[in-house]
Amino acid sequence: MVLSLVVLISGGGSNLRALLEASGDAEFPARVVAIGADRDADGLELGEEFGIPTFSVPFSSYPDRDAWGDALLEQIQQWQPDLTMLSGFMRLLPPRVVSALSPHLINTHPAYLPEFPGAHGVRDALAAGVTQTGASIIVVDNGVDDGPIVSQERVPVLPDDTQDSLHDRIKLVERRLLVQAVLDIANGHVDLKEHSPI
Ligand code: GAR
Repeated sequence: MVLSLVVLISGGGSNLRALLEASGDAEFPARVVAIGADRDADGLELGEEFGIPTFSVPFSSYPDRDAWGDALLEQIQQWQPDLTMLSGFMRLLPPRVVSALSPHLINTHPAYLPEFPGAHGVRDALAAGVTQTGASIIVVDNGVDDGPIVSQERVPVLPDDTQDSLHDRIKLVERRLLVQAVLDIANGHVDLKEHSPI
């Protein structure tokens, strides 16, 4: 089957770019049908570059989190995706959005969860002085980065690493993991229902 995907971003979307490049191969069993954001994210420009529709649902335009979430969900559901991926999406989804999409809702995270959850996974790993961190793909639940793990891989922390150098190396692993996760889900090798958090 060819999996249809909505990808949500908040930033530059370099991991999304990797997925779009992979899905440029006619054999790749997934297509990004829309790119969404919670702000005027730079990565929305990838929509134009790859000919994919985009939408933006700015958090600041809504009276509260639930109203914002409902508007976001409406946009996502218009595309009837098989899978929604958070790729650098830096805002917690309201529980009813998670319930509506789960377990077909995954997130990429730049740490070896459950180590270093939250918005600063790379900075926190460096600050903790660990010698290895990692990258993880998880199913989203109502907690902060604590849903069931789909896949993960270790990344060494080098003595002279800065936040940027470490994050760049983690992203290389993240990109491989997220492309493989999409492949595995599309091919039925990973059944997200078995990872259902709800
Ligand atoms: C990625 O490293 C992603 O894992 C992280 O944001 C980066 C987005 O980079 N997400 C989180 O930290 C979520 N907690 P990109 O916009 O260049 O793809």
